[in-house]
Amino acid sequence: MSCKKIGEYLIDKGVCDAQDVNTAIDLQLTLTEKGTYKPIGQILIEKNNLNAKNLKLNLLSQVKDMLNSVDLFSSLPLEVISKIASTAECIAFPKDEIIIHEGDQGDSFYQVVSGLIRIFHVSEDGVQITLNTLGPGESFGEMALLTGEPRSASVDIQEAGSLLRISKHAFDQLVSEIPGFSLMLSKILSDRLRTGTSNLLEASATQKAYQRFISQQDSRFEAKLNGTCKSIRQLKDKINQVAKNDEIVLILGEPGTEKGDVARLIHSISKKKNEPFLSVDIKSVNMGRSDDGHKHHDPIRLELAQECSLFGHVKDAFSFAPERRLGLFQVGDGGVIVIENIEHLAANIQTRLADFIEKGHFQALGSQNTIHSTIRIIATSCVDLAEHVQNNKFNQHLFNLFKENQTLIVPPLRKRKKDLGLIVKYLVKLYSTQAGKSIPDIDDDAYKDIMSYDWPGNTDELKAVIQRAVNLTSSNILISEDILIGISSQITGGIKFNLMKLEHIRRLFLSRFFPNTIQFITASFFALIIYLGFFGSQESGNNISLDLTWGIWEPLTILLCILAARIWCSACPVGALSSHISHNYGLKQKIPSFIRSHGDYFAAAGLGLIFLSEAFFNMTASPRATAVLILSIFAPAIILAFIYRRRIWCRFLCPLGKLLGFLSRCSPLELRANYNICNNDCTDHACYIGSDRHPGCPVFEAPFVLYNNQECILCGNCIKNCSHQSPVLSIRAPGQELWTFRKPDSIMILMASLIIGSQFFRGLEKTDYFHSYMGKLDPQWMIYSIFITLTCLLTFLLIKTAGNMIFKSVKTTSREKSNLMVYLLVPLIASFELGFQFERLVSLGGRSLVTLGNHFSFDWSFLMFSMGPGMIKFHQIAFVLTGLLYSRVVLVKLLNNQHYLPIKYLSRLEHWPVILLAVSYILIF
Ligand code: CMP
Repeated sequence: MSCKKIGEYLIDKGVCDAQDVNTAIDLQLTLTEKGTYKPIGQILIEKNNLNAKNLKLNLLSQVKDMLNSVDLFSSLPLEVISKIASTAECIAFPKDEIIIHEGDQGDSFYQVVSGLIRIFHVSEDGVQITLNTLGPGESFGEMALLTGEPRSASVDIQEAGSLLRISKHAFDQLVSEIPGFSLMLSKILSDRLRTGTSNLLEASATQKAYQRFISQQDSRFEAKLNGTCKSIRQLKDKINQVAKNDEIVLILGEPGTEKGDVARLIHSISKKKNEPFLSVDIKSVNMGRSDDGHKHHDPIRLELAQECSLFGHVKDAFSFAPERRLGLFQVGDGGVIVIENIEHLAANIQTRLADFIEKGHFQALGSQNTIHSTIRIIATSCVDLAEHVQNNKFNQHLFNLFKENQTLIVPPLRKRKKDLGLIVKYLVKLYSTQAGKSIPDIDDDAYKDIMSYDWPGNTDELKAVIQRAVNLTSSNILISEDILIGISSQITGGIKFNLMKLEHIRRLFLSRFFPNTIQFITASFFALIIYLGFFGSQESGNNISLDLTWGIWEPLTILLCILAARIWCSACPVGALSSHISHNYGLKQKIPSFIRSHGDYFAAAGLGLIFLSEAFFNMTASPRATAVLILSIFAPAIILAFIYRRRIWCRFLCPLGKLLGFLSRCSPLELRANYNICNNDCTDHACYIGSDRHPGCPVFEAPFVLYNNQECILCGNCIKNCSHQSPVLSIRAPGQELWTFRKPDSIMILMASLIIGSQFFRGLEKTDYFHSYMGKLDPQWMIYSIFITLTCLLTFLLIKTAGNMIFKSVKTTSREKSNLMVYLLVPLIASFELGFQFERLVSLGGRSLVTLGNHFSFDWSFLMFSMGPGMIKFHQIAFVLTGLLYSRVVLVKLLNNQHYLPIKYLSRLEHWPVILLAVSYILIF
């Protein structure tokens, strides 16, 4: 049907001349380009080429002519057509304007006069699916009026033009009064139904093609199982075996193992290799578009999301399902679907899944129609499903459907270390090609680092570490410093408050005076102590250096680290000097691997030596010995700074740093980076490498691998360097990291044995009994050494025994159990240290003003602050009891640790080692 546009119509009727109309059309075009749409009729009126009345009359006759030529109306008597034309409204529409919104209530029927309109449907993924395009003479908008349902589709303008709008009232009248009109309508509707269905079919075919495209894109990352060890060879055989059939498969393995790769390998060599390959992590499915983006831990919601994503739902199946959703079983029909973490499937859905596996068909939620699907199911799980069945946590029937010869087990990385070399080489090549770099290999030390780590996050963790190393390095070989081993996915959770939101704190950490200014102050402080130590009076009580060191600096440093982690280290003059020397004059050698691997032992030995010499030289009463001790810490740090990069001393060897790191685990302060930002947005790793303005991390730690306070010295370099504001300082529950780790740190037992051992030694060494027995034996240094060694050894044995007893039912190594045990003891250890230092603060710190007076020959004895032994003891016991209580809190929280898998086997717990230690502490105070 042809329908003249109003301009042509007016020319034909001789109302306007062609030139006026053409000028009006040109003007309309110019205005449209500027974003304003004006109908031709209106322009002609504004230009005085036409008057409004004339336009109205002509529009009416144009509409009548048009209606006469349209099938739907042509059979109607002339007076009816005139009536419709006079009640209808002719409206001009610009391009892209939406006339009808799907789901709205219908109030009008439309007839296209000129231009083009598009009828479309928006899928739940937000994709617009065009159902039809209509031109002049065609009509739309009848369905909602006839059925009373909301609008079935949306309509927009493809090409500007005009529409005739007939109100619902007039339309209803036509339908009820004129049989010819209804007949024509039903003809149009049945045509529409045909085209509509085929378009919908096309849409779902498009969806399928899209899924196939995704699987093809995915398969560009070739699935590979590297390794030649026995377990991998067996696994490869099994893959070949199960790829020959179409039965369901179960793949078991720890988190991070290559379960996904195994599934993909099965698909890639099976008959279905050209069919879709879909994958869904059942633990974290969401409700699609209707999800508000937050993670939901609501089990009902999760169950619904699981059901909808696997089986789909019809439109309006439930209150927040305004659209139809195709289930993955339908979308991937003929192909393969990997259901990851199947143990998280809700009980009802497990039953439905078993039913589908058996029958091969299912019904979408809210529908009675049966949908057949020949999709092959590959399930993966990190847990022992048989045990879950026993504990009624997994459907027995579904479990039985997974046959033993169709079950594959992927070994953890630590059990196939022989293959590590091969895997690492493969990953280095893969990621360097992706990054456009040429890195042929990794050096021996880096390789040793990789070999000596247990990889609790398995291949996923290894991949993240190698990829990061490749991105970080600027040389053509990966070295130890590039291999930043940490936890592959950050453990979050718990309530935290981001301190960087406080303007003062943010400014402090961003300021270039932090921590330099404080370092100047602390450097002067130590210079004074060293000077007074050598050149001042050697009498205790007459030399302020003793009171400052042992009575103020040491107690406050310990207290500060419990409150604010290792912030002291950022102000420490030893570190400042090391950085300065290494940056400006150093040879910048890379760190020897024995320091990397044995640094903790050296530091622990150093700590023992310090405690020993404190007692042997009676350091709290000897200014010279104190000065020598301080210098003996400065000296190796300075020498090492001349040779090696950054602060090697602070990171690997400083005994005090290790002690503070250990105690700072209790702190309510932490610096961590947002793992997602670091992994997705960061390209320069300036936090670690440094930038033009600020050096990188002085202690070779990158915030994105930080998961405890042990090594971070809170210097703020990473905060200054990161343009994404990823590293933040937060307040958390004190000691939160003691119950949220993925794997106990191996340094724990070493440090705990030394610290507790030395605490016993220090506590006993103060007593008269000790001096009256041990003090008289010769040679004294040997007796002291044997004594401290013994206390440390005994502590080590105690922790080992206690760990093995308490965590008897935890399925892990004896070493890990001992390390786990230490986590419970940390608050208690910190409480003893506080009590011990409290005594020094009161006794030595309390007399500092009097000593200062003595320097200038003033008698300031009235400024003496002291506390009776009973009162001191009272405080010490209070500290220990608080520590004991907090140890209990750690224990309870630890049982809820979701990240450390073996803990879930813990059934029986005793608290005796913690109580035993607390009682011993109280006794030795
Ligand atoms: P209604 O549901 O009232 O509003 C949207 C209109 O789009 C609908 O009426 C029909 O007139 C029209 N429509 C819906 N689906 C199709 C289709 N597949 N082909 C052509 N027109 C359609």
